[in-house]
Amino acid sequence: MTSGATSRKSKVSIIGAGSVGTAVAYACLIRGSAGALALYDTNAGKVRAEVLDLNHGTQFAPACRIDGSDDLAVTADSDLIVVTAGVKQRPGQSRLDLAAANVELAQALTPALLDLSPGAVVVFVSNPVDIVTYAAARAAGEDAAPRIFGSGTVLDSGRLRFLVAERVGVAVENVHALVVGEHGDSEIALWSSTTIGGVPALAYDLGDGPVFDDAVRAELASEVMRSAYEIISGKGATNLAIGLSTARIVEAVLRDQHRVLPVSSLQTGANGIEGVCLSLPTIVDGRGATRVLEVPLSADEEQGLHASARALLDVQRALGL
Ligand code: LAC
Repeated sequence: MTSGATSRKSKVSIIGAGSVGTAVAYACLIRGSAGALALYDTNAGKVRAEVLDLNHGTQFAPACRIDGSDDLAVTADSDLIVVTAGVKQRPGQSRLDLAAANVELAQALTPALLDLSPGAVVVFVSNPVDIVTYAAARAAGEDAAPRIFGSGTVLDSGRLRFLVAERVGVAVENVHALVVGEHGDSEIALWSSTTIGGVPALAYDLGDGPVFDDAVRAELASEVMRSAYEIISGKGATNLAIGLSTARIVEAVLRDQHRVLPVSSLQTGANGIEGVCLSLPTIVDGRGATRVLEVPLSADEEQGLHASARALLDVQRALGL
C-alpha cells in the first residue's frame, strides 16, 4: 500500500466536458491527482476550448499533460476513466428523472471505453449515479464489472460533515459522518456512527443538552438531501464540490490508498443488501471499489437503507435492467 505522489504515467480520461467534467479536470489538475488528463466530448469546439483553458494554467499547477478530442481514441490506455456525460438535472427534476437517457449512454459507452483501455478502473458520476453504474457494470461483462463503481454519496457525506462541523465549530476533517444508500432522495445520514474528534455526535453536548437532537438531525439530513436542488436552482448545476470529491476518489485509485469512501458499487450482501448499486463505506484502492464494510446501523437507519435499496430496485426493474 502506498499513499505517496501519483506516478507521472497515470492517465485519467474524463468523459463529458460540461460543468462537472471540467470541474473534475480542474480539481485533478490543481491537486496533482494525475500525470495526464484526456477530455472527451462530442462537442469538438467545447472540448478544444476547455483543454486550451486548462493547459494555460499548467505553469501554476503540478506537472500534467492535458489533451482532448471529440474522438474517443483520445482516452486510449487510461488507468482510470471518469464518466460525467449525460443529460443533466433541470430545476425541479430529481436525479431519477434522468435515468433512461443516461442509462442508454452508459450502456453504449462502457464497452467502447474498455476496448480502448482494457485495464482501466471506471468511475461513474453521471446521474442517477447508482442506476447508471448498475447498467454500466452489467454492460461491461463479468471481468470488468468489479472495476466499475460510482461516486455515490462521497459528496453527500462531505456535505453532512461540513454542516456538522459548522454547527459545533470543529474542523471538518475531525468530523466523521456517512451518508449511505442512494445518491438522491432516499439517502440516509448515519447519525449513530457520526463522531466529532472521536466523540459520538449523539452524545456531543456543549453544556445545555445534546447538540444533535431529533430536530437538528432531521434539519441537517434534509439540508444535505436538498443541497443539489438548491444549488441547481441558483446556478444551473452543481460542479465544484463534485469535482473535488471525484479528484479524491481518483487519487485513492491511482495511489492505491485503500481509502474508505462511501462509493456506489454492486452490493452482494453487506448489511443485507444485494443486486443493486448503492453506497456503503467501501475500501477504494488500485483495483477499484474492493471491499464493502458492514456498518453498524440503528433500527431506523437499517430500515432507511433497505427502503433506499427497494427504491433503486424499482427503477432498475422499470428500466428493464
Ligand atoms: C450533486 C450532484 C452531483 O449532488 O448529484 O451535487
